[in-house]
Amino acid sequence: MLDNDIKEVLVSKEQLEEINARLGAQITRDFADKNLLVIGILKGSIYFMTDLTRCIDLPLKLDFMAVSSYGGGTTSTGAVQIIKDVDINLVGYDVLLVEDILDSGRTLDYVRTMLSARGANSISIVTLLDKPARRVVDLTPDYVGCDVPDEFVVGYGLDYDQKYRNLPYIGALKREIYE
Ligand code: IMP
Ligand code: MG
Repeated sequence: MLDNDIKEVLVSKEQLEEINARLGAQITRDFADKNLLVIGILKGSIYFMTDLTRCIDLPLKLDFMAVSSYGGGTTSTGAVQIIKDVDINLVGYDVLLVEDILDSGRTLDYVRTMLSARGANSISIVTLLDKPARRVVDLTPDYVGCDVPDEFVVGYGLDYDQKYRNLPYIGALKREIYE
């Protein structure tokens, strides 16, 4: 069914669980004395954010932002639009931005720059997936689930044309679907 459009599994369900456990433990250590506010970038980060935060053994708050940099295609334009801003005032918080995938880096670079004027103690970035080969801005995430090759990937929150988000693993989409 949903699997028919997937060429190859890149990150399995089991690997996702391992990633969440590893990153959750690291973040628990690093933010132990901090005032953690986790901000998910909608919609791609939803599954990652809900699983990851359940592996963080600290009091924390959750908030969300929605941005768009895409359209229906598969490459980022750099024109980032804020569709939904956070509700919480960032003053005094150590912010952890949760992203599904870092590609050119333009989206997160824009969001980080915008938020850094709002008085947070610190702003860190966790991304489930990274395509370091495609970076066009100077942005290094603090935490990475795993690197992926230069393929269009979907599942576990990531979409193509708003579909495939509910696939329980990360897969490479067949080229004929998006070309
Ligand atoms: P960037 O601004 O080029 O880093 O693009 C980041 C955003 O593009 C991510 O938050 C995703 O929403 C989307 N994106 C980039 N690569 C992929 C992909 O392979 N699959 C699905 N979405 C992607
Ligand atoms: Mg996204």
